[in-house]
Amino acid sequence: MYTAVALDGPAGAGKSSIAKRAAKALDFIYVDTGALYRTIGYAATLDGIEPVDSPEVDALLAKTKVDLTFNDKGEQIVLLNGEDVSGFIRTPEASMTASKISAIPKVRAFLLDLQRNMAKTHNVIMDGRDIGTVVLPDAQVKIFLTASPEARAQRRYKELLEKGMDVNYEDILSDVKERDYNDSHRATAPLKPAEGCVIVDTTELDFEQSVEKIISVIKETI
Ligand code: DC
Repeated sequence: MYTAVALDGPAGAGKSSIAKRAAKALDFIYVDTGALYRTIGYAATLDGIEPVDSPEVDALLAKTKVDLTFNDKGEQIVLLNGEDVSGFIRTPEASMTASKISAIPKVRAFLLDLQRNMAKTHNVIMDGRDIGTVVLPDAQVKIFLTASPEARAQRRYKELLEKGMDVNYEDILSDVKERDYNDSHRATAPLKPAEGCVIVDTTELDFEQSVEKIISVIKETI
């Protein structure tokens, strides 16, 4: 019997970096489900397909295989038809395409088993938008991690600057708000706190405090 921690919340709340550290401390596997939606979005972009519900997206899914694996540092690698695309799915454009394509019910259904199988075979901290509500409704721990849009945009801005990208804070803030709106207003599996989840707001917490908080919530529950 494996333990699952469902970690949901809006873009830029720090889920991935916090969850990675917490997973290491607890010896769990960290699963970043956003990378799966980003990969489908990237596949659509490669084929020149719009991220909207259409027969073209159906045909794309029919010929697409997505796999998750881990490198020797324990970092997640996403494979698109056998090829590592981890380096191509982190741009602001890929974020927006992922947000749009993730609203398509067939895309969500396509990725469901892959996510559930990870939790059947490992102790996981799974990061996403609908993990506690849809993917793993029986997860032992459910956390909704959030922060103000401004705090999230500021963090994302710094992260992208550090990667050497040419970015503008106001554009990032408006992207954060647009993605929040898309993610929480879609008909299928919208972003919302799962019933019985613990809500953790990191607006006023630094990284170490956020990690500590998440670990203590997990330890108190399992
Ligand atoms: O976590 P992220 O920013 O990498 O996610 C990219 C997009 O994928 C996000 O805008 C919403 C979508 N997503 C989703 O709908 N469900 C998930 N479980 C994870 C991500």
